Amino acid sequence: MHQKVSLIGFGSIGSAIAFEAAALDLPIEFSAYDIRQDYLKGRVLDIEQSIVIKNSRTRIRAVKSLNELEDCKANIITAGLPRKKDQTRDDLLAVNLPIIKEIAESIGKYSPNSFNIIVTNPLDVITKAFVQYSGLDRKRIVGMSCSLDSARFRQLFANKLGVSINNVQGLVIGAHNNTMFAASNTVVIDEISLQKAIESGKLTKKHLEETLAQTKTMGGTINSLSGLSAFSAPASACVEILQTYLDDQKKIIPCSYYLNGEYGIKDLCIGVPVKIGGNGVEEVAEIELTPEEKKLMQQSAASINMI
Ligand code: NAI
Ligand code: 2OP
Repeated sequence: MHQKVSLIGFGSIGSAIAFEAAALDLPIEFSAYDIRQDYLKGRVLDIEQSIVIKNSRTRIRAVKSLNELEDCKANIITAGLPRKKDQTRDDLLAVNLPIIKEIAESIGKYSPNSFNIIVTNPLDVITKAFVQYSGLDRKRIVGMSCSLDSARFRQLFANKLGVSINNVQGLVIGAHNNTMFAASNTVVIDEISLQKAIESGKLTKKHLEETLAQTKTMGGTINSLSGLSAFSAPASACVEILQTYLDDQKKIIPCSYYLNGEYGIKDLCIGVPVKIGGNGVEEVAEIELTPEEKKLMQQSAASINMI
């Protein structure tokens, strides 16, 4: 049976999510909404024709208003402006906050049992705003950020060390800004822990620091090079979270999440590993941080613009 999912905002990331789900032949019926109605209709026609060629089970339709989304099991929210060259994510708050307020209030009213994946920047602030304005239980809301940042870290680290990208693991957590950091106990290269890899001379602390610095600025690097905000990897990260929820996989994925004392943080959304299953977020995974990383986590929390 098809599961109903809405895509709110059907620009670069929203449409890439539909395209990727169709390529994976996921049995999902998407309802796509965008304020630019003709643009939306055009993009939906194009993706539907791609679905025909792929002979995929995925289905998609354009809707005219948020009220038509009430029976969706999950919503992915990418509505809002992306940053332009030289803009920071925080520069987007003034324009994106009212957009999220309207969407969150509508979902709170029409879909109180849905699971929601927030993408709009500035991610951690917008995710918290969504928690507040929707009134939904926190377990129904995650912000997509750290799985993208972790993928960037793994790619850069693997390329620097000349190992397979499939053989580098590691979670990048904290805020989706330049205070994010790699949780060293989660980093594994060619099945060897970070500590052991440093001891054996396979890599140096400098490798790690350089990789992290590049990870922090990767969103801006992609934007400067291509003139576009990243959309392919963000879409893949959203599809991973969505599938994990719909299939009740209980997989741990780092996401921005409203904390209630976990990691010594309260009343804000920040990137931490969470277990996602059919009930939404089923657990915050409290991984072991070094004393230095505990400080970085507090500094990262302090860097998030409060609303
Ligand atoms: P985009 O501009 O291609 O698409 C955004 C869409 O939202 C547009 O089609 C626009 O018409 C629509 N929209 C604007 N106001 C709306 C409203 N009130 N209701 C419904 N739709 C509305 O932007 P893109 O590249 O898809 O990025 C979307 C957001 O995701 C941006 O804020 C961007 O900064 C953020 N982003 C977040 C990432 C993350 O890791 N969390 C990664 C990359 C981008
Ligand atoms: C990114 O990290 C801009 O948040 C967006 O690509």
